[in-house]
Amino acid sequence: MSEKPAVLVTRKLPEAVEERLRRDYDARLNPDDRLYGADEIVERAEGAVAILPCHTERFTAELIARLPAGLRAIVNFSVGVDHVDLAAAAARGLIVTNTPEVLSDATAEIAILLMLGAARRASEGERLVRNAEWRDWSPAFMVGRQVTGKRFGVIGMGRVGRVAARRARAFDMEIHYHNRHRLAPEAEAGAIFHETVEELLAASDVLSLHCPATPETIGLLDARRIALLPEGAIVVNTARGAIVDDEALIAALRSGHLFAAGLDVFNNEPDIHPDYRTLDNVFLLPHIGSATHETRDAMGFRALDNLDAIVAGRAPRDRVA
Ligand code: DGY
Repeated sequence: MSEKPAVLVTRKLPEAVEERLRRDYDARLNPDDRLYGADEIVERAEGAVAILPCHTERFTAELIARLPAGLRAIVNFSVGVDHVDLAAAAARGLIVTNTPEVLSDATAEIAILLMLGAARRASEGERLVRNAEWRDWSPAFMVGRQVTGKRFGVIGMGRVGRVAARRARAFDMEIHYHNRHRLAPEAEAGAIFHETVEELLAASDVLSLHCPATPETIGLLDARRIALLPEGAIVVNTARGAIVDDEALIAALRSGHLFAAGLDVFNNEPDIHPDYRTLDNVFLLPHIGSATHETRDAMGFRALDNLDAIVAGRAPRDRVA
């Protein structure tokens, strides 16, 4: 029997991360990258000190109640923790950690890609070329919107929101934001603070969502708030699908009140609202905000630093419950 502490790893992780896991732990890896159901998680976690999951596994109160008694921690390979019932985990005495900071650059890159892709009709254009349906060029062909010099509105000026704002400044965009707390002037870097989401919406030609999904933000972008965005605005979401009311967003994309949307995250992934697939004015990506080799390695190492601390009886750096 191995003397190393056992850890259940629910998904296939980068090679360097798995190597460190194998070196330091009795690592129960998932080489086939199969999505485990609740029963399988309970079974495979027997005797483990920790589970290292991704946002693809939902740790509901019910699942948490069934986890083996010896389990000490849920060490997430994600910054978002909306897939874990934190109150239930805390009540059960489980430590929960996440991986902040290391994915800010990669996610902000995708926010900018979505903004440009939505504004310049990249999905439509790519489809025309790829399907050999491109017939002609004319001044009226594939005309989109320019973002240079426009207003970039951020909901949630945390790490990712701030990097996205910095990148948007490269397009001479004026930065507006709403956050629970106003930032210090150095962090604000000239961005204009709005006390309410409603005020921010009226000042956003591009609205980029960067807040976590919490009871306060779920369904935040609903029909009433979308109506406050300027005619022809663009919505970008790299945070969580749950922040958006899909029916309301789809209606505003259909009516033309919104020019376009760029979405990397969705309600009920990967079975997204089917109407998104029918709209030309949405630029869709499959939740790849953090999907770079550099970032996925960094997320894994950050999760392992948290795990090492927990196993050694020290406080992990990124404890969220
Ligand atoms: C995160 O880290 O929260 C990303 O969305 C991937 O899970």
